[in-house]
Amino acid sequence: MKHISIVGLGYVGIVTGVCFADIGFKVTFTDVDAQKVEMVQRGVAPIYEPGVQEKLAMHVKEGRIEADTNTAEAAAKSSVSFITVGTPSVGGRIDLSGVKGAARDIGRGITDKDEYHVVVIKSTVIPGTTEEVVIPIIEEASGKVEGKDFGVCVNPEFLREGNAIRDFMKPDRIVIGYKSEKALKIVEELFRKIKTTFVKVDLRTAEMIKYANNSFLAMKVSFINEVANICELFGVDVETVAHAIGLDFRINPKFLRAGCGFGGSCFPKDLRAIISASKEKGYRPILLEATLSVNEKQPLRMIELAKETIGDLRGRRIAILGLSFKPGTDDMREAPSIKIVRNLLEEGARVVVHDPKAMENAKRIFGDEVEYADTALSALKGAECGMIVTEWDEYRKLSLRDIKEMMKVPVIIDGRRIINPKEAEQLGFTYRGIGFGRRV
Ligand SMILES: NC(=O)c1ccc[n+]([C@@H]2O[C@H](COP(=O)([O-])OP(=O)(O)OC[C@H]3O[C@@H](n4cnc5c(N)ncnc54)[C@H](O)[C@@H]3O)[C@@H](O)[C@H]2O)c1
Repeated sequence: MKHISIVGLGYVGIVTGVCFADIGFKVTFTDVDAQKVEMVQRGVAPIYEPGVQEKLAMHVKEGRIEADTNTAEAAAKSSVSFITVGTPSVGGRIDLSGVKGAARDIGRGITDKDEYHVVVIKSTVIPGTTEEVVIPIIEEASGKVEGKDFGVCVNPEFLREGNAIRDFMKPDRIVIGYKSEKALKIVEELFRKIKTTFVKVDLRTAEMIKYANNSFLAMKVSFINEVANICELFGVDVETVAHAIGLDFRINPKFLRAGCGFGGSCFPKDLRAIISASKEKGYRPILLEATLSVNEKQPLRMIELAKETIGDLRGRRIAILGLSFKPGTDDMREAPSIKIVRNLLEEGARVVVHDPKAMENAKRIFGDEVEYADTALSALKGAECGMIVTEWDEYRKLSLRDIKEMMKVPVIIDGRRIINPKEAEQLGFTYRGIGFGRRV
């Protein structure tokens, strides 16, 4: 049985590990965060992602998954090491300290190994990073030579949080960047049971594909958000427009839902990173800059809609439904909810928040500046405005009658367009939604 080590116990690492264990490999996770390692050793997932907890507990119990803080040791006893550490944005530039640390530890781990080792970079990194940064570090730390003693591949990850296991097992394609056929063969073999299209390219093309992919999706979201803002001016509903243009197969309906902006650990930081890296090479990517700038303003549309509807927000009780950057995750990194809540607080509003999964993360961000509600309905109790910020299914299922009974003033600002405006208005709500233009 092949033994895989995975460096970095975040969303990508843990999903990769439990899925490889499902396929039948032995997996050793490592992380610098001893608390995460200790949780995994007990079979407890350090992040929320549907299906992960059950799989992790089972594989730990059956001895297929283990966790440690020692990356070098894990590399020494495995034959393939995946780097899945974070590549955050610091001052707009990519921070490679995690990747460098992981590469150094893996290098130290394989120093005395006789067997050929493969290192796979799954973290999102700027084109050229694997060749110019990762390989030299591993060679220096191990005293070994790439292509002879060890091989390196780039395997960008395209999973969507909330659907991550499905996306790993049934991906649209698997991209493998490689330098030597030997390393490519070994990585291909790991994915043998996954039926999809394999795109085999050189290392820096694989790195670029990930940025192009995220940039396009982010651009699509900002595009429809801009269209939504224009629709409001002309008394047009963006939902109808998006439906019609989505039927054009050249456009396609995915990522064409107007709302209060994108967030998460990838789109914003990846766009900033590729913009900054392009500028360093003398090119200014204005389309990508515009994508980010539309997105920065979009959450504030919620505040404008609230003010247009109920006036001054000072002292007004406002309920926020949804804090995670999207449904199905507890991840609040760069979530639009953060900007919305902070702006409401600046306006002097009294903010009460609810989320089915992200309350613990929210407490770390907002402390005692906001009130935390156990249920969506209790958040709406006594509120003069309810804002839908994340499209959790449980919010779709709420009865508008129950909501109306709870609220002091029945005003809904729908940042994700999950409520039927006609139905809401028939029940006496004042309904405002992103891109829901009305004739005046
Ligand atoms: N989250 C996603 O949906 C997603 C999707 C595709 C690609 N990615 C990319 O995958 C990478 C990982 O993302 P994530 O969201 O899983 O990250 P994360 O921040 O959730 O987790 C990263 C983990 O790496 C650990 N770490 C950092 N440096 C380390 C080191 N030197 N040795 C051992 N552990 C170390 C951290 O302690 C942390 O637990 C990033 O490059 C990201 O851009 C993420």
